[in-house]
Formats: sequence, structure tokens, C-alpha cells
Amino acid sequence: MSETLTDWQAWHRRYDDPASPLSRRLGIVQALLREALFAAPAGPIALTSVCAGDGRDVRGVLAEHPRAVDVAAALVEKDPDLAAAAGAVVGDAGDLSTYREIPPADVLLVCGVFGNIADDDIRTTIENASRLCRPGARVLWTRGRREPDLTPAIRRWWGDAGWRETSFVTGAPTAEWSVGAAYLTRDPLPYEQMRLFTFVR
Ligand SMILES: C[S@@+](CC[C@H](N)C(=O)[O-])C[C@H]1O[C@@H](n2cnc3c(N)ncnc32)[C@H](O)[C@@H]1O
Repeated sequence: MSETLTDWQAWHRRYDDPASPLSRRLGIVQALLREALFAAPAGPIALTSVCAGDGRDVRGVLAEHPRAVDVAAALVEKDPDLAAAAGAVVGDAGDLSTYREIPPADVLLVCGVFGNIADDDIRTTIENASRLCRPGARVLWTRGRREPDLTPAIRRWWGDAGWRETSFVTGAPTAEWSVGAAYLTRDPLPYEQMRLFTFVR
């Protein structure tokens, strides 16, 4: 576990290179987000992004998607400068009380989170993600695949929590990243104030 906290603004500069693994991951997140919006039933779509960063995944898609007019997006980000770029709520996305005023999501993004929290927190987040969601919600998540690769366990945890996987895309051959998508097949758990995770990097 690293003792050094990450400079998240510097981390975002890896997006400046369109050939970087992070940029390729962004392309997949955006493609799957486009699909999730097309798959949403007619009517309003509530979207929540957990640890949104500068929100480029969501903003890039909403700039050109036909369903964008239906989307009410709530992005939650701790860094005030990144939050300002994203149009995000400044807050601790690991604390469910932060979402008190945020409507339950039809589309939930948990991108760039699972590589920065303890394994137990990943599991807690997955087991309780539906507390932030409406029935039938779709989730997009990411996680690096360097050994020890936790993605087999993560995919199983989503399944155990009632989410059916629709995509799992991995950045072969470097295996630096993966993006998963799933939809909720069970009734969401009720909203409750609890801690999902704490960043360790
Ligand atoms: C790896 S970046 C991911 C950003 C974005 N989701 C993406 O994939 O491009 C992690 C982000 O989480 C933010 N962050 C860290 N701890 C947080 C917390 N407790 N609540 C909200 N955001 C947090 C950081 O400031 C950073 O912008």
C-alpha cells in the first residue's frame, strides 16, 4: 500500500496523449456509456459518477448523444479544481451521505476507483452500489489488471450482488486496464448512510 497520495491533476494529464492506455480506456468507457444511454428506457436518465475526476468520460458522451437531453448527471469529486472542470459536486464519494440529495442512478460510473482502494472496500462498494441506484440500473467500472489480477473476483462480486455482466473489455496485450459493464437484476438495496471506501493512494 503506497504512503504517497497521488496528484490527481497530474494523473489526468495522461489523457493528453491519445495513444496512452488511459486514453484507450476512456474510449471504451465512453463507448459503453453510449450503449448504456441507448439502452435506457424512454424518459429521464439519472447518471451518477463516483470520483468523477474532470468528468471527461461523461462530458464527452453527453456532448453528442441523442439521449443527452434526458440525462441529469451528478458527478462527485473531492478535488475542487477537477470538480469545477467537471461541473461536479465537491464531496467524499466514499461516504453515502454525500449522495443524500442525489437522485438514484439509472447509470452509475465507478471508474478509476477500484485501483485506489483496499480489496475489502472494493467488495463493500460492489455489495452496496445498488443503494445509489434505481431498478435496472447499469454500472460501468474499471480496474487495472496487473498481477495479482483482482478482476475475476470483482466480476464475481458484481454477479453475487445481483448485477449481470454485459461487457468486460481489457487492454490486451498490456493488460493495464479493463472496463466492465453490468445491469442490476435485483431490487436495489435501500439508501442508507454508510462508508463504501477510502482512497489509499
Ligand atoms: C483515478 S482518478 C479517476 C477520475 C475519473 N473517474 C476517470 O476515470 O477519469 C480518481 C479521482 O478520484 C478523486 N477522489 C479521490 N478520493 C475521492 C473521494 N473520497 N471522493 C471523491 N473523489 C475522490 C481524485 O481526486 C481523482 O480525481
